[in-house]
Amino acid sequence: MFDFDNVPNRRGTSSLKWDVKDGELPMWVADMDFPAPPCIRDAVIKRAEHGIFGYNVVPEEWYDSVINWWSSRHGIRYEKEWLQFSTGIVPAISSMIKRLCNVGDNVVVLTPVYDIFFHSIENFGRHTLESKLRYKDGRYDIDFDDLERALSDPLSTVMILCNPHNPIGKIWNRSELDSIGKLCYKYGVTVISDEIHCDITTPGKEYTPFAAVSDVCRDISVTCVSASKAFNIAGLQSAAVIVPNPTLRNKVVRGLNSDEVAEPNCFAAQATIAAFDNGGPWLDELNEYIVENKRYAAERLKDAPVQTVKSEATYLMWIDCSEITDNAEKLADHLRKTTGLYISAGNQYRGNGNTFVRMNLACPRKTLSDGLDRFIRGTKSYKK
Ligand SMILES: Cc1ncc(COP(=O)(O)O)c(C=O)c1O
Repeated sequence: MFDFDNVPNRRGTSSLKWDVKDGELPMWVADMDFPAPPCIRDAVIKRAEHGIFGYNVVPEEWYDSVINWWSSRHGIRYEKEWLQFSTGIVPAISSMIKRLCNVGDNVVVLTPVYDIFFHSIENFGRHTLESKLRYKDGRYDIDFDDLERALSDPLSTVMILCNPHNPIGKIWNRSELDSIGKLCYKYGVTVISDEIHCDITTPGKEYTPFAAVSDVCRDISVTCVSASKAFNIAGLQSAAVIVPNPTLRNKVVRGLNSDEVAEPNCFAAQATIAAFDNGGPWLDELNEYIVENKRYAAERLKDAPVQTVKSEATYLMWIDCSEITDNAEKLADHLRKTTGLYISAGNQYRGNGNTFVRMNLACPRKTLSDGLDRFIRGTKSYKK
């Protein structure tokens, strides 16, 4: 039994999430309030106690840990030579955008989606081409005609897929992934499948790795995974980039190396190995706790003029506020100013995000309860 009810105070620790004014409650960035499991802390302490912090290589065990985790938990067998270490998924995506498409090309995304994708695309002069997800009765799905329109544009060369999808918390099923793969193959589009949220899922709901769907999906794609979200170790900067196709792999690996994002710091591989070798029982309990937090939040929010989107993955709650606003930023500002609750305005994720907010539920239940009190109070006093 692990304790998710009591967590250390992160104020004054240079935490991006918690570097806020006294009295403010941050529930925005995808960073959990829970400490990493004891197996990771022990591995990091052991490495720190060595006392020498020179340059590092990726140890053999890192490959075994990643391969074993995906074969035992997610039913796909990755080969060692497909794997490349990277200092994070965002650095890897930015590097791949530069290598796999040209200035002025389109990168297709299903929106609303993780906002940093737009930065990785647009910072390097590429163009974001949105295919907006269809939203009806609190659920999202893919408009495949619209996706085909986007992919068939001759300037579309890459698609970034978020699997499972941040911020809506959806696990794409095999048939949806298969259709995406077929369309991308038809139009010569390379898929970057960002699977960083794959280990935070409702117990019993399994995600499908994009590369596991078919030979086509495997051969046209790059998959990005890490232990960062599920084990709360984003600050240790570690990810695995998986490229089965050797021609594509050659380009990606050259890019990661020339962008200098392919070498680990002293703790990155050690923490990842500890997570994937020994973190399973902790993760299973975490997922139970998060599901209960989601259930609790949905129940409490019945008192607010909003609708929660049903989610099976991530610890993020995507909340439909269309009854009270068409300006998510204004609503998020109002919540922060009047109640101190700091959550993410949905417009930053584009698509139909302008009437949504995103709330991070990876916190002790008493913190969640405080956040929900503030949210309910703030939405009640909000004027359009
Ligand atoms: C979909 C997605 N990809 C990537 C990241 C960040 O990855 P990294 O910290 O490895 O750069 C996040 C963080 O929230 C995310 O939600």
